[in-house]
Amino acid sequence: MFASFFVVTIFVEAALSLKLVDLHVPAVVRLTSPVWLYCWYNLEGDDLYSVKWYKNHVEFYRFLPSDNPPGQKYDLVGVHVDLKNSNQTHVYLDQTDLNTDGLYGCEVSTEAPSYKTVQAEKKLKVYVLPRDKPAIEGLESVYGIGDEVNVTCGSSPSKPPAQLSWLINGQPAEPTFLTTYETQRHLEGLQRTMLGLNFIVTFTHLKHGMLSLDCTAIVSQEYYSQSGEIVIGGRIRADPSDFVPPEKGPTLVTGKKEYRVGDIVEVNCSSSRDTKNTQLTWFVNDQKASHFYVINYPPIIYKDGVMSSLIGLKFRLTHTHLLSEGLRIKCTSTKSIVLDTKNQKVIIGGTQHSSGLHVLASNGKESNTKGLWNMMLWSWSFTLAFVQSLCADQL
Ligand SMILES: *[C@@H]1O[C@H](CO)[C@@H](O)[C@H](O)[C@H]1NC(C)=O
Ligand SMILES: *[C@@H]1O[C@H](CO)[C@@H](O)[C@H](O)[C@H]1NC(C)=O
Ligand SMILES: *[C@@H]1O[C@H](CO)[C@@H](O)[C@H](O)[C@H]1NC(C)=O
Repeated sequence: MFASFFVVTIFVEAALSLKLVDLHVPAVVRLTSPVWLYCWYNLEGDDLYSVKWYKNHVEFYRFLPSDNPPGQKYDLVGVHVDLKNSNQTHVYLDQTDLNTDGLYGCEVSTEAPSYKTVQAEKKLKVYVLPRDKPAIEGLESVYGIGDEVNVTCGSSPSKPPAQLSWLINGQPAEPTFLTTYETQRHLEGLQRTMLGLNFIVTFTHLKHGMLSLDCTAIVSQEYYSQSGEIVIGGRIRADPSDFVPPEKGPTLVTGKKEYRVGDIVEVNCSSSRDTKNTQLTWFVNDQKASHFYVINYPPIIYKDGVMSSLIGLKFRLTHTHLLSEGLRIKCTSTKSIVLDTKNQKVIIGGTQHSSGLHVLASNGKESNTKGLWNMMLWSWSFTLAFVQSLCADQL
C-alpha cells in the first residue's frame, strides 16, 4: 500500500514539471532576411516567471509577465529584435547581418513555489550566396595531345566558402590533377576559394575531338556532424562490437577481428538511414585519410527507398600508423544543406560552343581556324596511332 503510493507520487512529480518542448532556431538564414525564433514550453500548471533569450550567452530579450511592458530588449550587435512581434514564446528579428551568427538560447523559469528553470540552445548561421559563376583562368584557346592544361577555377566570394570540383569531359578529375589554393578572405567575412587543375592532354581526352572542362562551386552549410571511432590497439585488435553507434551516427564495420603489421586494414563506414546530403569522411589518427586509402562505394538503397552513404578505407598497416594508444580510425558523418550550385563549363576545340567560349571570343576567327586545324591534326594522330598498333600486332 505504502509502496504504490510512493510510486504514484514520483509519477505525478515527473509529469507535472516544466518542460522545454522545442526550440526553433533556423540553422541557416540568408543575409538580411528576418528570423522567427520560437521557444515552445509546457508550464504544466505552474505560473510563468520569465522567458529569457540569449545570444552566445548574452541576454537580448526577456519576457516577464510581472513587468510593464512585459517584453524588453537589450541592445546586442547583430540582434535586431522587433518588440511588437515578440512575446512569451516568439522573438522576431526583423533583419540579419553578418554579426547575427551565433548560439541562440531560450531559458524559461516558473514562479514560486516550484522555481524551475529549463533551457536549450541552437546555432544560427547567416549565409551569403556567390553573385557570379566560378571563373576559369589560364585557358589556352587550343590544346593538342601532350599539351599541359594548367587552369584555375575561382569561386565568387560567399559565406560559407564554396567547395569547388572539376570535371574533364564529364568525369571527375583525378585527385592528383588538383591543387587546392589558400582561401582568400574578402570584406565582411566572405571567402573566395580556388582549385587548380593540371594535367597533360592525352589521346583519350580528345577522342571526341574536343575537351570539356567543367568547374562547379557548391555552397553548403553543415548543420549536423557525428563520428564513430574504432581503435586498433596495442594488441592490434579491432572489435567493432565494442563500439556502440550513437543514434543517427555512422556505423563502422571491420573486415577482420585482428590485424598485424603488414596486414591490409579494411573498414566500411555507413551513415544512418536518413541521409540526404550526408558526407562521410575518414580520419586516421585524427588526420584526414589520404585519398589513396578511401574507396567510394555507391549508396546502399533499402527496400523503402531510403539511402545510406557508404565509404571504405583500405590500407596496409605499418608501424608508423600505430601510436602508443593504437591506431585510431574515425568516420565522421556530416549533414549539410546545399544553398547554391553554380557551374562554369568550357569546351575547347569543338564546334559546339558553350557559355564558356566567351573567354575565347576575343581570339575571334583565328582561333576557330586554329581549332579546326588542330582537329584535323588529331584525326591524323588517331590514324597514325591506329596503323602503328596494327603493325605492332603483325610483328
Ligand atoms: C506570440 O506571437 C506569435 C507570433 O506572432 C503568435 O503566433 C502567438 O499566438 C503569440 N502568443 C501569444 C500568447 O500571444
Ligand atoms: C600553373 O599556373 C600557376 C598559376 O598561373 C603557376 O603558378 C604554376 O606554376 C603553373 N604550374 C605549372 C606546372 O606550370
Ligand atoms: C565494404 O562494402 C563493400 C560494398 O558493399 C563490400 O564489397 C566490402 O566487402 C565491405 N567491406 C567490409 C570490410 O565490410
